[in-house]
Amino acid sequence: VTSVAIANIGELVGWADDRPVRHGAGLVLSDGVVAWVGDTADLPAADEVVDAEGRAVIPGFVDSHTHLVFAGDRAQEFTARMAGERYAAGGIRTTVAATRAAGEEELTRLATGRLAELRSQGTTTVEIKSGYGLDTDTEELLLRVASRLTPETTFLGAHVVPEGWTADAYVDLVTGEMLERCAPHARWIDVFCETGAFDADAARTVLTAGIAAGLQPRIHANQLGHGPGVQLACELGAAAADHCTYLSDADVAALADSGVVAGLLPGVEFSTRHPYPDGRRLLAAGVRIAIATDCNPGTSYTSSMPFCIALAVREMGLTPTEALHAATAGGAASLRRTDVGHLGIGARADLVILDAPSHVHLAYRPGVPLVHRVITTPHSDKL
Ligand code: NIG
Ligand code: FE
Repeated sequence: VTSVAIANIGELVGWADDRPVRHGAGLVLSDGVVAWVGDTADLPAADEVVDAEGRAVIPGFVDSHTHLVFAGDRAQEFTARMAGERYAAGGIRTTVAATRAAGEEELTRLATGRLAELRSQGTTTVEIKSGYGLDTDTEELLLRVASRLTPETTFLGAHVVPEGWTADAYVDLVTGEMLERCAPHARWIDVFCETGAFDADAARTVLTAGIAAGLQPRIHANQLGHGPGVQLACELGAAAADHCTYLSDADVAALADSGVVAGLLPGVEFSTRHPYPDGRRLLAAGVRIAIATDCNPGTSYTSSMPFCIALAVREMGLTPTEALHAATAGGAASLRRTDVGHLGIGARADLVILDAPSHVHLAYRPGVPLVHRVITTPHSDKL
């Protein structure tokens, strides 16, 4: 089958300039891309016809921030936090120990299972970071595993300073031998710029070295408190500054001016009891935003973009339409992709048929599995 027509789409959210949301639509996918969009009544013939029966169709979610390759979990840490304990970056080392102890086969099995979990909830493009190895061999292994699952791989050797190292010596390792071995498997360079992780100078050194090695920068910034990460992202022209939990007015202005995408990760505020950032404040200032799961065992062990959309609507002041936009087109902007996150002509044929008449139900019916069918092109990525 080379062409598929989807008929009777109750609501098509394609983000086309003229009609971002249209009703009574039809769509034709051909050779892995969107070939035609119009009214169902005018639907051209195709090799196969799928009747959407009035359901809503949305672009597949673009999850621009995950840490899918790790072993073990930290359920006890979560329980303690829900009882009032604070999150600290040092918890990362628990997962590092479990990850180093697992072999390639086990890590591949675990990451592949998590990817299937994301996919069943409508995610069709995913970014995956390393960062639970923190030695050259293990970081390279994590990126090898990740790169079999997605082209959007990120080297996060600078996640936290591992036990037995000074920050200076570890930054030398990350920007030297580790970068050299990891860069061939990665598209992006990332650093956790935070108290308890890496300060602004160390983070700048890491990102600058990554850029020199041909990687593009993104950053974990302003998660646990006000800090220099967002400003650093803007200074370096990073694709994205993720978390953005604590933002000053100057941070918001810098994001708007630079075009750096602010990645909102509401699963983290949910799981760490930090305050949710104000999404409305960002949109009002003209900042581009993305919503992602940050799927990881420490601060956000969810693989569900619909859950994150619901949280963003309830807790960050976004409308359901703005939240879906951030979870699709916003994620694409965060990954500097123009071929995903929308359903315009020529976009990759990555879409979700919802078991709902409208995308609003993603937030209106939280926790309910609303994915009727996921359609992706085999070449769209390795999902
Ligand atoms: O994105 N903030 C840094 N890294 C992860 C958490 C890692 C962990 O606690 O295991 C995050 O929240
Ligand atoms: Fe993260």
